[in-house]
Amino acid sequence: MSAILNAVGVTKLYIRGAETVRALDNINISIERGDMVAVVGPSGSGKTTLLNMLGGFDKPTNGSIYLKEFEISNMKEKELNLIRRKEIGYIFQNFHLLPTLTVRENISIPLIFSGKKEDGRVERVLEVVGLSNRANHLPSQISGGEMQRTAIARALINDPEILIADEPTGNLDSEMALSIFNLFNSINQQEKTIIIVTHNLELAKKCRRCLHIKDGRIE
Ligand SMILES: Nc1ncnc2c1ncn2[C@@H]1O[C@H](COP(=O)(O)OP(=O)(O)OP(=O)(O)O)[C@@H](O)[C@H]1O
Ligand SMILES: [Mg+2]
Repeated sequence: MSAILNAVGVTKLYIRGAETVRALDNINISIERGDMVAVVGPSGSGKTTLLNMLGGFDKPTNGSIYLKEFEISNMKEKELNLIRRKEIGYIFQNFHLLPTLTVRENISIPLIFSGKKEDGRVERVLEVVGLSNRANHLPSQISGGEMQRTAIARALINDPEILIADEPTGNLDSEMALSIFNLFNSINQQEKTIIIVTHNLELAKKCRRCLHIKDGRIE
């Protein structure tokens, strides 16, 4: 295995008025290709901030993030977008679904940007997350768990090398959570790298590796 993602001395400060929040404090991590990593820690410990850095959605205040040979923390937005679309599927903590588009359309958006062919993959992914019968609904017409599964399907549609998921099972009952986790597991068997934030310690234990974050530091 070789490292696919590296965080080197990553610090992230958020300035809120007179207050500075040290959300990440000198983090060093190396994630191997094909690894399955759980990120756990209390609310506010910096998990989402870390995922945003690893996924190239935000830049560190100090330090560097490398995706393969690319220093993504230093990259211009345009170039970064191309790499991100190709390499990363990202499941946001609050889904980020577009409210005026149906489930099927939301899932299809990354295809438009990547230029990949719709070779039936939308139906396949809908099937995988169990949403075939909800494909024509708007986000406002489906449940929280179904929104979560829509976000998961959208992250899978381009078949990315790296899947980054912020609490992907947070709104799901234990049976659905386990089935989504098993789906991630099977994706991981295909040499894909998976990073998931979870409060579910049962699921975290099943990952190959577990990173504990507290106060912006890895314990
Ligand atoms: N945009 C922002 N501006 C200012 N402070 C922020 C911002 N985003 C996060 N923070 C702060 O940074 C710290 C880390 O937040 P983060 O969202 O990474 O935590 P988390 O571990 O994901 O928590 P949760 O489990 O509740 O999702 C918190 O103190 C939070 O209040
Ligand atoms: Mg979070």
